[in-house]
Amino acid sequence: MPSMEFLWLFILYVFFLVLIVSIFCFLSGRSSSRLHHVLHRAEQVASLVLPAWLQRCLGSCFHTRNRAFVMLHLILDTLVFAEYTWEVLDYSLELEINWMLVFLPYILITLNLYCFYICCTTDPGRVTRQNESLCIQVYEYDDIMFHHNNKCPTCHLMKPARSKHCGVCGSCIQRFDHHCVWVNNCIGAQNIRYFLLYLLSLTLTAVSLAAVITVFLLQVVLLSHMMTAAYVDSEGHEDIANLAYVIQHLFLTFPRIVFTLGFLFLLILFLGGYTCFLWYLSITNQTTNEWYKARRIPGAPKGYSRGILGNLKEIFQPYSCYKKER
Ligand SMILES: *[C@@H]1O[C@H](CO)[C@@H](O)[C@H](O)[C@H]1NC(C)=O
Ligand SMILES: [Zn+2]
Ligand SMILES: [Zn+2]
Repeated sequence: MPSMEFLWLFILYVFFLVLIVSIFCFLSGRSSSRLHHVLHRAEQVASLVLPAWLQRCLGSCFHTRNRAFVMLHLILDTLVFAEYTWEVLDYSLELEINWMLVFLPYILITLNLYCFYICCTTDPGRVTRQNESLCIQVYEYDDIMFHHNNKCPTCHLMKPARSKHCGVCGSCIQRFDHHCVWVNNCIGAQNIRYFLLYLLSLTLTAVSLAAVITVFLLQVVLLSHMMTAAYVDSEGHEDIANLAYVIQHLFLTFPRIVFTLGFLFLLILFLGGYTCFLWYLSITNQTTNEWYKARRIPGAPKGYSRGILGNLKEIFQPYSCYKKER
């Protein structure tokens, strides 16, 4: 019964999922890696083939602050949770899966949306004329990655060590990490703690959703005795069901649920990886920006670490420029 067509469709489906999730994840760390370069190239190619109005539209998506990705994020959240609520929740409660596990995703997504909201709306730590001189005192210049007496050509202010000018937000950001299109804001000294919690809670939400759906599908397979069922194949032989048969059967019976599960698995893979990476950087007191720079300067010191606890304290209790003032 698992026909070739089905396998091809399934492979195509997995391929699309990988594509969607890779785009989703790479965009969130857009300015942090080589991808910036790749995107720049893609833009050059696009400028040759795309009509002007579409270029303007895409340009405003990436180069000015706008809510397109915030909306997309909320739409994806809504779709996944609508599917979960309308299909999985009923069945799961009927199959007597532990209700605490079934309701856990709602608690986690509430936490996540709260962190998301704060990331979108807080000031990441803009350097302004008023707090320029105070910001400069927070970190020492290492004269390798960050040089003394360096003026930002756009803001005309002195650049504090560890800061960077964000072209999208239009100002220099203290302890700049990266500009995240998904929260439509920069990630810097004042909001990286919320961003770390946001990533963690989003990953945990995806894990808990995937766990419930997996338990649910396993229950269905066990209760229906699918693994021991025999079926008659196209040539009239009787066969014991194999894994491909079970997958095909589940896919045909619950297409949306299996699709959602596939999406969640890939999200966990990529987002979980990214979350670990950013937590690792935080524990070692590096910003994404510095990590990226350090890879291109061999022997660059990783100079700002103050021990794991000190580093976490710095992130969760940032020196605000006002604190120094007092
Ligand atoms: C500098 O002051 C502005 C308000 O003038 C504030 O929004 C910003 O967060 C301050 N920067 C830092 C790094 O505290
Ligand atoms: Zn600047
Ligand atoms: Zn920015």
